[in-house]
Amino acid sequence: MSTPSILSISGTSERSQERSLERSFERYDDVVDALAHPDLVPLPAASGPAGGVAWLRAAVARFSAGEEHAARRAMVEADLARLDPAALRVAAAAGFEPDARLRAVRALAQGLGLAEPDAVAQAVSVVARAYFAEAPDDAEADAAVAWLLPRMAAGGGAEDGASVGVGVGGPVPEELAANRIGLLVQACDATATLVGNARRAGCRSAAGDAPGGEGLLDRGLLDRTLRHDPSVPVMRRLAVRDAVVGGVRLPAGTRVVLDVAAAQQGAPGRPPLTFGGPPRVCPGRTHALALAAGILHGASDPAGPTAADTPVTDGRDPGAVVSATVEHVLALAATWTEWDGRPVAADGRTYTPHKAVRRVADHLLDHLAELEARLAGEATEPDHWHASAATTPADLAPFTPADLDEARSRLTRLARIWARRLAALTPEQLDHSPGTGWTFRQLAFHVAESAYYADAVGDLRAGAEGAAS
Ligand code: HEM
Repeated sequence: MSTPSILSISGTSERSQERSLERSFERYDDVVDALAHPDLVPLPAASGPAGGVAWLRAAVARFSAGEEHAARRAMVEADLARLDPAALRVAAAAGFEPDARLRAVRALAQGLGLAEPDAVAQAVSVVARAYFAEAPDDAEADAAVAWLLPRMAAGGGAEDGASVGVGVGGPVPEELAANRIGLLVQACDATATLVGNARRAGCRSAAGDAPGGEGLLDRGLLDRTLRHDPSVPVMRRLAVRDAVVGGVRLPAGTRVVLDVAAAQQGAPGRPPLTFGGPPRVCPGRTHALALAAGILHGASDPAGPTAADTPVTDGRDPGAVVSATVEHVLALAATWTEWDGRPVAADGRTYTPHKAVRRVADHLLDHLAELEARLAGEATEPDHWHASAATTPADLAPFTPADLDEARSRLTRLARIWARRLAALTPEQLDHSPGTGWTFRQLAFHVAESAYYADAVGDLRAGAEGAAS
C-alpha cells in the first residue's frame, strides 16, 4: 500500500470521552520521517507507585522525550560503553541455559559487574513481560523491579567516582538504576526474538525452504533475519503537536503506528529499520548482535557448517553409540598383534594398527575438546592435526600386546568421558548446542564414525573375513 492508512478513529475512552485518532505508516520514507520527527514521541508512560513497573517506565529513556530523553539515553550509552561486545559474545555463548532471554541478560549483567547475574536475569525477564504494557498491572513484575533496584549498584557507575547506592543512606541516583534496568529489559525479549527468528530462518534455509542461506548457521543469517523478520516489527508514536508525515496531517494527540516490517519489505535496497532510527536508534544494536551471535554460533567466529556432511543421527543414546564404536575398534585391535608390518591402503591413505588407534583417540579427543570449549563459551582450538594425511615412523611400529593394553585403557577411558559428558546434557542441549558447528548429538554420531580407521586395518586373525591383505 503506498499511502498511509487510517487504522481507526476510535478509542472513545469511557473515562475521558476523548476521540483518539490512529494513523499507520508503512512506506519506508514515511517511517524514517516519523522516527526523526521531533513532535512524534513514544507513547508517554504514566508513573505509578515508587519501585514498580509503571514507575520504571516513567523513569527510563525508552518512554521519555526531549531533554529528559537525551539525559537518560546518555546514562544508557555510558553503561553500554563499558561493555565489550566481543566479551559479551563469549559470555552469552557459555553455559547450559536454554532460555535465550536469560542468557542475553545474564551476559549483560555480568559485563556490568552486577552481583547475582543469574537472579538478575530471572527478575528482568519477569519485568519484561509487563514493561511494554501502557497500564502495567503485574504485582510479580512490580516486586521484580523493587528487587532489582538496589542490585543495580554493584560495580556499576563507579567509573566516574560517584556512588551508585540505591539503598538507604548515600546518594541515590535512582534514575541511573532505573535506566540500567531499562537497558537489561530492552535487551531481554528483543535479543531472544532475534535468536529465535534466526534459528527458524536457519532451519528453513538448511531445509532448502528459504532463500539466501547455505546452512543452519551461516554468517549472513542474523543480517537476513533482521531484514526479513524484524524482532521489533512495529513502533508507536504520539503526536504531541500538529505534525505532517508523508503529506498527511497528524493532529496533536494522534497515535502513530510505524509498520517496520512492511517498510523494510517495500524497500529491499535500503538499510533495515529493525533497530529504529535517529534520535532514538537502539543504542544496544552492536551488543545485541554480539549476544545473538554468541547464543547462536558460540564464542568463536561462525564458520558455518554445511548441510552436505552433517552426520546422520537416530534415536540411539549418543553416549552408547560412542562406546559401541570403541568396543568395535578394540575388538579389531585385539587381532592386530598379528600384523605383519605391511601398511594397508584405503581411500588413497595408508593405515597401520598404531595409526588407526592414534586416529581414533585423536578424533575422540579433538571433538571432546571442541564440545567442552563450546560449553565454556570459549573459542575452539585451531585445527593443526595432520590426521590421516601423515604416517609417522611410530605408526609403522609393531603392535605388541602391551600396545593393545595401552590402547584399551586409553580408548575405554575416552569413551567413558564421552558417555558421562553426553549423559549430563539434556535433549535440548544435545540438539540446540551452544557454539559453532554441529549439535553435540551430531558430534557424537560423527566421532562414532571413527570405526572407519579400524575397519581400514580390519580383522587380522589368520583367515578372518575382511582381513587386510
Ligand atoms: C535484536 C535485538 C534488539 C532490537 C531489534 C532492538 C530494537 C530497538 C528499537 C527499535 C528501539 C527504539 C524503539 C523506539 O524508537 O520506539 C530500541 C531502543 C532501545 N534499545 Fe534496543 N533492540 C535490541 C536489543 C537491545 C539490546 C541488547 C540493548 C542493550 C544492551 C538495547 C537497548 C535499548 C535501549 C536502552 C533503548 C531505548 C533507547 C532510547 O529510547 O533512546 N536494545 N531498541
